Amino acid sequence: MDAPVNLPPAGAPDRASCPVAPMLAVSPLLGEDSFRRVVEWAPSAMVMIDLEGIMVLVNAQTERMFDYGRDELIGKPVEILVPERFRQHHSAFRTGYFNDPQPRPMGVGRDLAGCRADGTEFPIEIGLNPIATEAGVMVLASIIDITERQRAQQRLEDALREKTVLLNEVHHRVKNNLQVITSLLNLQADFAADPRLRAILAESCGRVKAMALTHQLLYERKDFSRLDLGDYLDRLIQSIRSSYRATGDRITLRMVRPDAHVQIDLERTIPCGLLVNELVTNSFKHAFKGERQGEIVIQLEEGFDGMVCVSVADNGVGLPPESELAHGSSLGLQLVQLFVEQLHGTLDVERGSGVRFAMRFPKYIAAKEPS
Ligand SMILES: Nc1ncnc2c1ncn2[C@@H]1O[C@H](COP(=O)(O)OP(=O)(O)O)[C@@H](O)[C@H]1O
Ligand SMILES: [Mg+2]
Repeated sequence: MDAPVNLPPAGAPDRASCPVAPMLAVSPLLGEDSFRRVVEWAPSAMVMIDLEGIMVLVNAQTERMFDYGRDELIGKPVEILVPERFRQHHSAFRTGYFNDPQPRPMGVGRDLAGCRADGTEFPIEIGLNPIATEAGVMVLASIIDITERQRAQQRLEDALREKTVLLNEVHHRVKNNLQVITSLLNLQADFAADPRLRAILAESCGRVKAMALTHQLLYERKDFSRLDLGDYLDRLIQSIRSSYRATGDRITLRMVRPDAHVQIDLERTIPCGLLVNELVTNSFKHAFKGERQGEIVIQLEEGFDGMVCVSVADNGVGLPPESELAHGSSLGLQLVQLFVEQLHGTLDVERGSGVRFAMRFPKYIAAKEPS
């Protein structure tokens, strides 16, 4: 089959009479005809240039991409395919490449552009390959038009930005709606004559607040996939503290957390927060009766085994012997048990001076482990 480019057939001996048509010294596995066919039918534009930057071989895709006829390209400087403002520097780049010709992408980190016959520009990516020929080393540039890829990427980035704004708005609204529920519960509590009912409503209020806080943090941090558990628990216990401000300095509250951030997803943050809410509320409510003083310590740890450990301890009066988790008639400790199950975790209760509840749960549920 004839060579598809207007070069003399392989083996043309007289190089002087044909300065831009060198005989190619390609691999013995691939004859010159085959090489030209591969180049001709390549899906990317292929341009081979000599040391002077003269185009000695182009393929059909080059004609289509740059809108030139083949005879308008062969024998011309490659700079005609480069936007005018870059032409001046191009020859220096070319010389630099010939000094150390290695297969590599061109202009890593720079935006490269091609220039069509009518002067319009389009973004491109270029791979450079040195090819040994009898006329010396040439460079075979493989050029891809990345207009479509850039457009698709832009569309994706726009869609992502839009989703982020929407998600942010959703979290903001959820938080606002939960705040409305809190206010309604507070109002109802104000109207309730029975102090027991008032206490129940106040506790429900605390639970809703604990949930609202997760949405507040997601909104503030603008990372919707995960929450910093340490920050969340810190804010949560401050919020509980403010509900029990009547206890004054009698009860101190301390949070012990690691320097490293413990990030977990929203699905796990809510049960974990509700659980801590129940336990810290209990310590405030039950551990320091009368004028008894003491401390509540909330500790967060992350083990190397991917387990998160959260404990709530107080040095108050201690659990009454009859308070059996999950079997009592009161809601709080039953909820604690339920949240531990939701977290696929375990719960240890230490009764000593006061009480210490220690939960351990896996950071990721097996199916959700990040790859
Ligand atoms: N930190 C604590 N110190 C002492 N007693 C506690 C503590 N936590 C819970 N309790 C006891 O366990 C009981 C059950 O708690 P819970 O289920 O949360 O119900 P509630 O708080 O509504 O009474 C409480 O009534 C209280 O007697
Ligand atoms: Mg309780």
